[in-house]
Amino acid sequence: MPVARKVTEQIGRASWIRRMFEEGRALKARVGNDAVFDFSLGNPILEPPDEFFEALEVVASDRAPGLHRYMTNAGFEDTRLAFADKYCLETGLDYTANHILMTVGAAGALNVTLKTLLNPGEEVILLAPFFAEYEFYVDNHGGVPKIVATDADFDLDAAAIAAAITPQTRAILVNSPNNPTGRVYRHSSIDALARVLEAKQREFKTTIYVLSDEPYRALVYDDIDVPVIANYYKNTIVCTSNSKDLGLPGERIGHIAVSPEAADAAELVNGMAFAIRTLGFVNAPALMQRVVAQILDSTVDLDFYRRNRDTLYSELRALGFEMQRPEGAFFLFPKTPTPDDVGFVRGLQKHHILTVPGSGFGTPGYFRICYSVERNMLERSLPVWARAAKELGLEPRNTTKN
Ligand SMILES: Cc1ncc(COP(=O)(O)O)c(C=O)c1O
Repeated sequence: MPVARKVTEQIGRASWIRRMFEEGRALKARVGNDAVFDFSLGNPILEPPDEFFEALEVVASDRAPGLHRYMTNAGFEDTRLAFADKYCLETGLDYTANHILMTVGAAGALNVTLKTLLNPGEEVILLAPFFAEYEFYVDNHGGVPKIVATDADFDLDAAAIAAAITPQTRAILVNSPNNPTGRVYRHSSIDALARVLEAKQREFKTTIYVLSDEPYRALVYDDIDVPVIANYYKNTIVCTSNSKDLGLPGERIGHIAVSPEAADAAELVNGMAFAIRTLGFVNAPALMQRVVAQILDSTVDLDFYRRNRDTLYSELRALGFEMQRPEGAFFLFPKTPTPDDVGFVRGLQKHHILTVPGSGFGTPGYFRICYSVERNMLERSLPVWARAAKELGLEPRNTTKN
C-alpha cells in the first residue's frame, strides 16, 4: 500500500465529504455550472480590497536587497511589530514583536501551536460543531481530540467543558465567529469559560491554553462585539489569518499572537519558531508579510456577505427551515427536517443544491450552507429551494421574514 495506513484511514473518514464534492463536480459537468447551486465550499468569494492591490504594487516594486531571502523563522520584525501594536490597542496588554509569529495561514498557525504544545496523548478539547480539519491537526502532533458539544444555541457550555477537562488537557480550541454555525460566543460565555479553566488549572496543577482560531473575527454583520479572549484569560494564543477578512486564502498568510500574560510565553514563542521551521514552512510568505502589515484595518466588502445572509436567512426561514440568525463568518447551519442529515443533503442534491451535512462538523441533524457565493446564483436558487422545501414536506412560516 503506497499510502500510510493512518492517512488511508483518515481519507476514508473524510471521504463522504469528498464524495459530495466529487458528485457536485460531476453534476456540474453533466448539467452545466449554471444549473447547479453550490453552497458547499467555504471559499471566500470576494476579491481583496483596493488597499491590498495598492500595497502589493508598492511592496512588489521595492528592489531593496534581502527582501526575498530566508529570514528569522517568526517573520519580519516590522510586520510582527505592526500586529503587536494592533493587539496592544485591542487588549491594553503589552504585546511586542516577540509575541507574534507570522504563519502560513490559520491552518499553519494551528499546526505550529499544536506541535509546540502537545506531548503524546495529551488532550485538546474541540467544541462541536467544529471545523472538520481540527481532528486531523490534533492527530498530526500526537494529541487526542476530546469533543464537547456546545449548547442548544451553539454557545459555549461551560459545565460540559468543565466535565471534559482532565489532567491530560493541554488546550481548548475556540472558534468565534464560528464555522459552521456563524455564532459569536457571548462575553458571559467567555467569562464562564475562563473561570472554568482557571479552576481546573488549580485543581490539576496544569496549564491549559485557549487556542483562539479567529479567521472570521472581522466578518460580523450586526452590532455584535466579538469578545477578546486574552482580556478574560491569560493563557490565550490567537491563531488566525487574512484568508477571510482580506480574501487571501490562496496567499497563505496568517499569524500567531501569544498573550504576554500567558504562562511561559517566551519559551512558547521559541518553540513555535522551531516548529515552523521543522514542519517545513520555514517562514510565512515574505511578500505577503510586508503587504498585510500595511493594511491592518482593511477588509473585504462586508455588506456583500451581510446581504447574502439576510436574504437566505429570511427566505429559508419563511420556507420552514429552522435555524439561528448567524452573527458572523459566512455560514448558515439549519436543522435538517429529519435526523438523517446525509440523506437530507442528498435530497437537496437531487434539486442541484449542494450543501454539507452537519456530521462533517461533528453535529448530525444539521446542514451547512455557505453564503460566500455569487449574488446571482443565490437569487436564482431561491425558487429551487422553495420547490425542494415543499417536496421535503417543510411547513412554510406565516411570520414576517426576519
Ligand atoms: C474555522 C477555520 N479555521 C481555520 C481555517 C483555515 O484557514 P487558513 O486558510 O487561514 O489556513 C478555516 C478555513 O476555512 C476555518 O474555517
